[in-house]
Amino acid sequence: MKILANKKIILGVTGGIAAYKSAILTRQLIELGVNVRVVMTESAQAFITPLTFQALSGNPVSLDLLDESAEAAMGHIELAKWADLILIAPASANFIARLANGLADDLLTTLCIATQAPIAVAPAMNQQMWAARPTQRNLNLIREDKRIILGPATGQQACGDVGLGRMLEPEQICQLLPQIFAPQILRNKHLVITAGPTREPLDPVRYISNHSSGKMGYALAQAALAYGAQVTLVSGPCDLPCPQGAKRIMVESAEQMLAACQQNITGDNIFIACAAVADYQYSQPAQQKIKKQQAELTLTFTRNPDILATIAKQKERPFCVGFAAETQHVESYARGKLNSKNLDMIVANDVSDPTIGFNSNQNAVTLLWHDGQQSFSAADKLDLSYELLTIINQHYEKKHSIKNS
Ligand code: PMT
Repeated sequence: MKILANKKIILGVTGGIAAYKSAILTRQLIELGVNVRVVMTESAQAFITPLTFQALSGNPVSLDLLDESAEAAMGHIELAKWADLILIAPASANFIARLANGLADDLLTTLCIATQAPIAVAPAMNQQMWAARPTQRNLNLIREDKRIILGPATGQQACGDVGLGRMLEPEQICQLLPQIFAPQILRNKHLVITAGPTREPLDPVRYISNHSSGKMGYALAQAALAYGAQVTLVSGPCDLPCPQGAKRIMVESAEQMLAACQQNITGDNIFIACAAVADYQYSQPAQQKIKKQQAELTLTFTRNPDILATIAKQKERPFCVGFAAETQHVESYARGKLNSKNLDMIVANDVSDPTIGFNSNQNAVTLLWHDGQQSFSAADKLDLSYELLTIINQHYEKKHSIKNS
């Protein structure tokens, strides 16, 4: 995720059992290329030691406003100026109250007053404390101050209660951070993205499908969210978690995928068909498990609807971007589909190379449009998605400005 690379983040850790997750968060941020400096409140140190964060971040941990040696190394005003973001995770109810009221009674609250950087909090507290009116009042205050609130999640809590108040998982926080830094080029735009395989049933226990993992479509959804888009992800069966902030509709068959797309697409949307849709369905799925009685089994298949071509044929059609998975003549076959399916753009994907394409973390593609094309060498699917969406958006805007002029 290059958007976070070389960013300078102060990770504020306040007192709460979720403080252990901050250690994992530190490690994940470092893996993303972030320069992390940890600031701990006094109560955080009852849950986890500064040494843990020092080892994970590779930087000294700041604890006290009045610590002369720390101030001599990097004073609190210098630290406040250094940060591109102050992220407080976990943020306790007490810390949120102090932030809301502008207190500067320890190092972390002082940094929040002294910085010009954005401030994000990931609350973590008991569900009753979260629901309490004073907490909600304080959250409204920090919202008014344009602080960003990440979560919380709902579920089982350390105290045994169940409800809202769990800190988001570190990977969910890492997914949300690019929204703070990425240019909001897709704000007020709605993208509908298909992802993953479809499954076409043969009988109650068998189906035909393909090797799509959903990674490429989910990466596009995640990048679109970071660019500020509203995202509807129509997903075939896969194990990936829903990107934070997306509306996800899970489907199985091509017909279900088409119906979900038709229900969610309007004419001003961007539609990206990344799913590997089965071209055929078994004509008569058996009601009972097919028994192995014959030496040979012949099944008859009928053509599935072409989701992308159907949507692109609509009178009020969205901006349509297809993918073409090809094993030979990749660009010319892709250009054929660009024309025959009446698309605006298509991503040509050479799936003969097992290191890219299906079920790999990397991809290398060529983006084609009617009078041009651009190639992208092998990269992580998320990084590639940021690049693809930038070009797709430029073409979408160009088409809309022509339409509206
Ligand atoms: O999911 P991953 O493991 O990350 O793999 C990513 C991917 C290789 C699946 C992806 O990058 C990709 O290439 N997706 C397109 C796969 C495909 O079905 O291509 P196609 O050339 O058969 O279809 C052309 C286009 O028509 C595609 O946009 C497809 O979604 C669409 N289509 C195809 C058949 C059909 N019945 N309906 C469709 O809408």
